[in-house]
Amino acid sequence: MSANLIIIHAAELATARGRKPRAGKAMQAIEVIHDGAVRIENGTITAVGTTGEVMKRGTTDGFTVIDAAGKTVVPGFVDSHTHFVFEGYREEEFVWRLQGMRYMDIMAQGGGIASTVAATRGAGLKRLIEGGRQRLDVMLSYGVTTVEGKSGYGLDRDTEIVQLEAMAALEDDHPLDIVPTFLGAHAVPREYEDRSDAYLDFILEAVLPDVAERGLAEFCDVFCEAHVFSVAQSRCLLGRAEALGLKLTLHADEIVPLGGAELAAELRAVSADHLLQATDTGIKALAAAGVVATLLPITAFGLQEPFARGRYMIDQGCAVALATDFNPGSCFSHSIPLLMALGTLKMGLTPEEALTAITLNGAAAVDRADRVGSLEVGKQGDVVILEFPSYRFMPYHLGVNIVEKVVKQGRLVFDKAQGGRIEGA
Ligand code: NIG
Ligand code: FE
Repeated sequence: MSANLIIIHAAELATARGRKPRAGKAMQAIEVIHDGAVRIENGTITAVGTTGEVMKRGTTDGFTVIDAAGKTVVPGFVDSHTHFVFEGYREEEFVWRLQGMRYMDIMAQGGGIASTVAATRGAGLKRLIEGGRQRLDVMLSYGVTTVEGKSGYGLDRDTEIVQLEAMAALEDDHPLDIVPTFLGAHAVPREYEDRSDAYLDFILEAVLPDVAERGLAEFCDVFCEAHVFSVAQSRCLLGRAEALGLKLTLHADEIVPLGGAELAAELRAVSADHLLQATDTGIKALAAAGVVATLLPITAFGLQEPFARGRYMIDQGCAVALATDFNPGSCFSHSIPLLMALGTLKMGLTPEEALTAITLNGAAAVDRADRVGSLEVGKQGDVVILEFPSYRFMPYHLGVNIVEKVVKQGRLVFDKAQGGRIEGA
């Protein structure tokens, strides 16, 4: 199928613009074009404007033309924080949490991440690819065109690497773009109980150099949290990862205010994620250092923890991204509609800020704002068509998926009218 495609007559074409994260007030300033159109040639956007302007740009011969009358056209969504490659669901833990157990107590008693680790170690490459593929298909149906995915359910050399290999295989044969992250420091495995320094040494000596040399990950992440990895341990790991050419991101200040935000600012990480407990000082430091604050409200909702202070962060000049944190434990949801609902209703983002957060700032959180995240000439032709006439329906239509079509690099890859994912596209 050709990657030449034109969408015309959109009731609204709505996009944040830019090649860098939008911070503070600039998150509100999206562009809305009525009777909007976008032209994609060989997978790349070559014109954006009103239908009249775009149709003047050349022939439609050899182009797929989509009439989006009554619909909204927005950039493909970027889910910049997920753990989608794993084996081992934990539905019993959800029930325990309903009965009052806390997430970190389950982890301390040997459940939580460790239980998914046990299952993932036994899964093998093929099963990890299959599970990952099914989840990517659902993400695509929600309009996600770029997704970040983390290792971290192996915590041994082979399984950490096999998780990253599964992502590399899926990158090759699924339409979604995948940004792979090495999260070997997700927890301390049972074999290293009470010896977290020794485990980190193992990661630094036996795993990270190979991951870097084989180009298996773009980012290095760490669960910087009380009783997991300290600020000093996180600093040490991330410093080494950066020296080996990886970009930096952190699980920061999720359960207790440990200083993860401050560390992210100090290291000029690309993104600091969770931030439920980030202090005023930490938030100001993120804004000053230009670190994207990636907020994961479905996790806070599922764990019944307080939401990160999204409104305050934007008012302090932060660039906020929204992501799902899809994983089998703290957040078994890749629902973009739920994310938009919580981002607006519980964190105080406006619909415009929420759109910026799931597109351009999500792209910036994975260092791809030069390529994706907005509808602009020169960027990849990753587009979502919504079945309502305004982007405001995304948060307003609470928890309902209103994605009608998804275009990836100029190819129609999902269409509700054709039964969903278009195979072979
Ligand atoms: O982002 N907090 C640490 N990591 C994940 C949860 C992983 C899991 O529970 O399996 C998170 O919440
Ligand atoms: Fe996470």
